Amino acid sequence: MIELTDVSKQFPDGTLAVEDFDLVIPPHRTTVLVGSSGSGKTTLLRMINRMVDPTSGSISIDGDDISRRDPVQLRRSIGYVMQNSGLMPHFTVADNIATVPVLQGRPRREARSRALELMDTVGLDHAMADRYPHQLSGGQQQRVGVARGLAADPNILLMDEPFGAVDPIVRAELQEELLRLQREIGKTIVFVTHDIDEAFLLGDQVVILERQARVAQIGTPDEIIENPATSFVASFIGAEKGKRALSLRRTPHGTVVVDAEGRAQGSLVDEAGAGGASAGTSEGTVP
Ligand SMILES: Nc1ncnc2c1ncn2[C@@H]1O[C@H](COP(=O)(O)OP(=O)(O)OP(=O)(O)O)[C@@H](O)[C@H]1O
Ligand SMILES: [Mg+2]
Repeated sequence: MIELTDVSKQFPDGTLAVEDFDLVIPPHRTTVLVGSSGSGKTTLLRMINRMVDPTSGSISIDGDDISRRDPVQLRRSIGYVMQNSGLMPHFTVADNIATVPVLQGRPRREARSRALELMDTVGLDHAMADRYPHQLSGGQQQRVGVARGLAADPNILLMDEPFGAVDPIVRAELQEELLRLQREIGKTIVFVTHDIDEAFLLGDQVVILERQARVAQIGTPDEIIENPATSFVASFIGAEKGKRALSLRRTPHGTVVVDAEGRAQGSLVDEAGAGGASAGTSEGTVP
């Protein structure tokens, strides 16, 4: 469990990026921090692995205050997938993935076989192991970033908009793979995005942030969709535009789920999974 208590961060130039932030992050679940650009998401993530130290407040992991931990050792024990992949351009894919294990003193040969194993995990062909990042597509680079984050087999994985720079189809594919992977590995994932649909898809717990990381609402996707805490939340999740107010329309071919404008969003299937395609926005409230 990660616990942030009354955490604030003011940068030396006076910018107050995070103010009085409190959050409990449960283990083996995905917590998504979602908010607009500049709301303090990256700053929050970096305070968890001490790339940034808070100005005040405390952060603990499994009850231990991280301010007493060695920052370098702490950082290497936590997986971090950076915004914009953050790969080292002059390192091959395998060397990028194996960075942390090598820094931890693992023999090269062992680090390489671990890198290949992780390429399987994230769906990258071994043929790419000796390529350089610029020889990969955006989606492949992001997979390398995820593999690198997992390399030291950390209990905690911090992911900063890891699927931000790819087209919607690749993005959907990466999201599905993360869901599959998380079902297998059950890490404590803290995932940052500004995309509310991504947050609802991936998050067991979703934290909606306003400026200076003020918490607008914390809850499961269901709780937030069914009961937005403020008009800010309602507007952020698109409820005001009717995007979440789905309803059913019966047609000669079956039952179609439509949004407030009457646009078809998907078809209705039995929860037990009696075949048919599920609605793209099946998270929405069906009255
Ligand atoms: N090193 C720094 N020095 C001064 N101000 C900073 C620094 N890093 C971030 N900030 C400021 O702190 C605020 C929060 O930044 P942060 O990067 O945490 O936002 P974010 O939510 O991750 O945004 P984005 O979605 O654009 O990545 C912004 O106003 C930003 O300009
Ligand atoms: Mg950011």
